[in-house]
Amino acid sequence: MQLRVVVDQPWDVAADVLAIPFAGEFVPKGALAEIDKRAGGELVAQAAFGELKAERYSTAVMSGGELRAPRLLAIAAGEADTISRQVVIRIGSAIERRLAGRTVKTLAVWLGDLGDRIDGGAAAAAELLARGVVEGEFEPATIYRDNYKSAPPVLDELILVAPGADAAALKKAAERGVIIGEGANLARRLDNRSANDVSPEVLAGEARAIAERLGLYIDVIEPARAEKLGMGMFLAVGSGSDNPPRMIVLRSGDEGALDAAGRRLAIVGKGVCFDSGGISIKPANQMEEMKMDKTGACTVIAAIATVARLAPGTPLLAIAPTVENMPGPHSARPGDIVKAMNGKTVDIINTDAEGRLILGDAMCYAEKLGATHMVDIATLTGAVARALGDQMTGAFGTPQPWYDAVAAAGEKAGERYWQLPFIEEYRKDLDSWYADFTNTGSVEGGLIKSALFLREFATVPWVHLDIAGTGYFRKKTPYAPAGATGVSHATLVELALAGAE
Ligand code: BES
Ligand code: MN
Ligand code: ZN
Repeated sequence: MQLRVVVDQPWDVAADVLAIPFAGEFVPKGALAEIDKRAGGELVAQAAFGELKAERYSTAVMSGGELRAPRLLAIAAGEADTISRQVVIRIGSAIERRLAGRTVKTLAVWLGDLGDRIDGGAAAAAELLARGVVEGEFEPATIYRDNYKSAPPVLDELILVAPGADAAALKKAAERGVIIGEGANLARRLDNRSANDVSPEVLAGEARAIAERLGLYIDVIEPARAEKLGMGMFLAVGSGSDNPPRMIVLRSGDEGALDAAGRRLAIVGKGVCFDSGGISIKPANQMEEMKMDKTGACTVIAAIATVARLAPGTPLLAIAPTVENMPGPHSARPGDIVKAMNGKTVDIINTDAEGRLILGDAMCYAEKLGATHMVDIATLTGAVARALGDQMTGAFGTPQPWYDAVAAAGEKAGERYWQLPFIEEYRKDLDSWYADFTNTGSVEGGLIKSALFLREFATVPWVHLDIAGTGYFRKKTPYAPAGATGVSHATLVELALAGAE
C-alpha cells in the first residue's frame, strides 16, 4: 500500500472514496458545509433521513456529487470531548471495514479536527488513522479460503488529507502507524490459525522465518535442553501432547546490551497453542476458542519484529513458552509436584492453570539472560474477562514506577489498562502441604492469585498483562472482526522504543 499525505482541501482530492469523520451530531459548518455543498447536499439529506447517525463509528456511504471522489463515506467520531487516541485508530479501522466487499483501490481520509482532540496533534492523528486503516484490513475469514467475497479492500493507496499541515512530518508519522498496524496484523494472523495448523514447532518455525527476515537472533529450546535448564513447570504442561513444547527466544541488539533507557527489556508471551485444560479438562462449550490461548506468544513475536523494523538493533528480548495443554498418558496430573527453574516447588492442583506454569519458567529464563525489566502478556484467566470484559486489559506491576512506564506506553499506543492490586492476604491461599505453593487456590480473587503466583518468578521490575478478555473478540464490531485483536502489540512496541537510540 502506498501512502500519501496531501495538504489540499478534501474536495480537491481524487480517490475512489473520500472518508470524512465528524464529531457529535452532523452539523454542516466549515469544511463540512463545503463538502456537503459539493456533494449536492447529500450529507445534510442523509442526516435528516436518519441514515447518518451520531453514534460513534456509525457510517453512511453516499454519492460524491461534484467532489473529486465519486463516493463519500461519513463516519461519526462520537462526542468530541471523548475522542481518544484509541478512538482515532478505530475510526481508521471502521472506515476500512465499512468498505468490505467494495471495489476500492484508493482511499482518502480527511483528518478533520481529530488532531486537535489528542496529544501530538495532526501528526499523531495521521499515525493513528493510518494504523487503524491497516488494522481494518485484517480479515480472519481469508486465512483458510480464497473465495471469501466480503473482505475489507486491499488498498493500492491511502491518502491522508490534512489541509495546511506539514506533509513531511505527517507522512513520517503515518508510515510508523502503518508498520505498527502491520505488526498487529501479523500477530492476529498467527493467533487466529487453528491448533491443527499451528503446533509449538510450527510457531517456532514462524518465529525463525521472522528472525531470518529481520536479522534477529533466535534460539528454540527443545525439551532435552529445557530439562537441563530445570524448566520443570514448562515441561509438565507440555508433556501431555504428542507435539512437543518449544521455548522460543528472540533477541534484537547485541547479547547483554542495555537499551538507551538503561534497560534490558524482556517481553514474555503465553503460547498455549491449544488449552484443553489437560487432565482438569474444560467443558466443551467455547473450548474451540482455546486455539487463541497463544495470543501472548504471537504478540511478543510480532512486537519484536515491529521494533526491528522501526528501530533495528534496539536491545530487546522476546520469549514465548509454547505448548499444547492436552490430556493423555503423559500429562501432568492434579497433585503432581514439579520444580521450577528458580528451584521453587509447585503443587499442580489444576492442570488448567497452565499459563502461569509456563510463564514462570520463561520469566526465570528471561532473568537468566539478563533481563532487567519484564512484561509478560497472557490470556491467563477467565476471571479478568468477567471483571473487565473485552475492552480493557487487566494489569499488575511492581514496583509502581515500572508499572507507570508500561501504562505510559499503553497511553501512547491508544490501549486501555486497568491496574489491579496484589492483595497480600490471598497469597496464603496458594500454600501447599507438599510444595512451596500450589498453582491455584479457591476461585474467589482468582485473578489476584494468578498474579501472586507469577510474582514468585520475578526478581526484577515486572508487569503482567492479562489479555484473556481483550485478546480476541467473540463478536464483530464496526472496527474489528471477531477473533484476534492484536491488543497490546502497540503498547509493547512503544515500551521497547522508549529505549531506542
Ligand atoms: N486460557 C485460560 C484462560 C482463558 C479463559 C482465556 C477464557 C480466554 C478465555 C487459562 O489457562 C485457564 O484455563 N484459566 C483458568 C484458571 C483456573 C483453573 C484457576 C480459568 O480462568 O478458569
Ligand atoms: Mn487453562
Ligand atoms: Zn490457558
